[in-house]
Amino acid sequence: MTLSVTTSPWHTTAVDWLIVAIDNSRKFDGPLGELDKALGGTLTRLRESGDLTGKLAELLPLPDAGGIAAQRLLVVGLGKADELTRPRFEKAAMAAVRSVSSKAEVSVAFAVPAVSGAGISQEQAVETLATSLTVGGVGQDSLKAERGHHPLASATLLVDEGATSAAEEAATRGVILGEAINLTRDLVNLPPQQIHPESVAERAQQVAADLGLTCTVLGQPELEAENMGSLLAVAQGSVRPPRVVIVDYHGAGNDAPTLAIVGKGVTFDSGGLSLKPSDGMIAMKSDMAGSATALGAIAAIAKLKLPVNVTAYLGLVENMVSGSSYKLGDILTARNGVTIEVQNTDAEGRLVLADVLHYAAERGADRIIDLATLTGACVVALGEDVTGVFSNDQNWCNQVLAAASTAGEYVWQLPTFDFYSELLKSDVADCRNIGGRWGGAITAAKFLEKFVDKKPWVHLDIAGPSFASNNKPHREGGATGCMVRTLVEAASSLE
Ligand code: BES
Ligand code: MN
Ligand code: ZN
Repeated sequence: MTLSVTTSPWHTTAVDWLIVAIDNSRKFDGPLGELDKALGGTLTRLRESGDLTGKLAELLPLPDAGGIAAQRLLVVGLGKADELTRPRFEKAAMAAVRSVSSKAEVSVAFAVPAVSGAGISQEQAVETLATSLTVGGVGQDSLKAERGHHPLASATLLVDEGATSAAEEAATRGVILGEAINLTRDLVNLPPQQIHPESVAERAQQVAADLGLTCTVLGQPELEAENMGSLLAVAQGSVRPPRVVIVDYHGAGNDAPTLAIVGKGVTFDSGGLSLKPSDGMIAMKSDMAGSATALGAIAAIAKLKLPVNVTAYLGLVENMVSGSSYKLGDILTARNGVTIEVQNTDAEGRLVLADVLHYAAERGADRIIDLATLTGACVVALGEDVTGVFSNDQNWCNQVLAAASTAGEYVWQLPTFDFYSELLKSDVADCRNIGGRWGGAITAAKFLEKFVDKKPWVHLDIAGPSFASNNKPHREGGATGCMVRTLVEAASSLE
């Protein structure tokens, strides 16, 4: 998709689809008034007949609009102007883009609405539109004979005179973020017979090479030399050997702090000997979403040339059932020497992250964010659309929460009181890999905390929001690429 920013009048822009956004005050002034005039008052008539309400993400397509240069017109609602937020704006933008991307080779002009005074800035609106135009044209059906969505051929953002240069920068950023989200989505959506530790590592090497980043891949012998006994135990039941991928981006001097982004990359989670039932296993190709998100984020950070140092760590294993699988009762020795009694082989993500987190801390991380599809308990607590946030350092946590709010992504912090750790006690080892029946998202976080070497650390449990079970008008089912934008924002506001 080529994206441009222009100041042409809305009604003279010759494209397949002209998209205009209208809040529910339905005032037709300024450029909207001119458009209505060019249309011979069609918008006014539709408003009066009750067909055009301006409700959030409501779509009104006019495929045969006369009087304007565009072949078709799409009106999308923004809801109440004073309730507009970045995620609400994105919902409207995505619904509009997805509805026009059902055909191939479509050209679109999106009239950027004035959003001043609302909970979103003009530049954020432009960036969000650019991201939506990039993401909305890509579905999860790349292997279907007939695709439901096609990347747009071209997109034009229509902005006010005087706003062009700021809008151009915001649009470029938005496209970079959209491409990063699509990279993450693609990796997560590919079927698990194609995605395993080696193939993800190869893809990461490719991405790093394209961006001129250093990429190091640790294989079985290196992981053994690094004493990653916890990660290796999870991997041992699979014919696919494990990998840990390290991608380094140096955008600042050596004395600047380094942010480590650590991703859970279980390329398929069968549960191991604590086997999952089919229903719980169906979506488990998505159990590497954390590592795909880390890769997408560092790709965007590098393309944006942010003045920061960031390293992405991908902990890649397949959790399978075989004669060589790790067993309940096994006692593992993690990289930091902590011994772990295995009481459930389906609590494998924390075992993988334990070693990678410790490796990242030792390799010089000053701040850590990990991303993991870690627990069903987090989905029970927060639902499918909200990321769980856990931390050992409230200052760092506040920065990540602020980044999510700026990026327009839904997160919620859960407590990490000391006494939760007692639930991880074992009679035969330093700890066990499961807590009790309750507070499962938190005990999982408390387990991870043991391995971060007291570095400022935030854990993002993305088990709910990283993978959607169904299509909605405003977003495709399957991988969502959630938290890519939050990570980029957290990196760019790193102090
Ligand atoms: N990958 C799963 C968590 C998950 C569940 C992700 C649903 C996405 C959707 C994780 O490895 C897991 O199996 N966790 C167990 C932990 C339990 C055994 C303590 C769970 O949540 O049931
Ligand atoms: Mn599991
Ligand atoms: Zn898992």
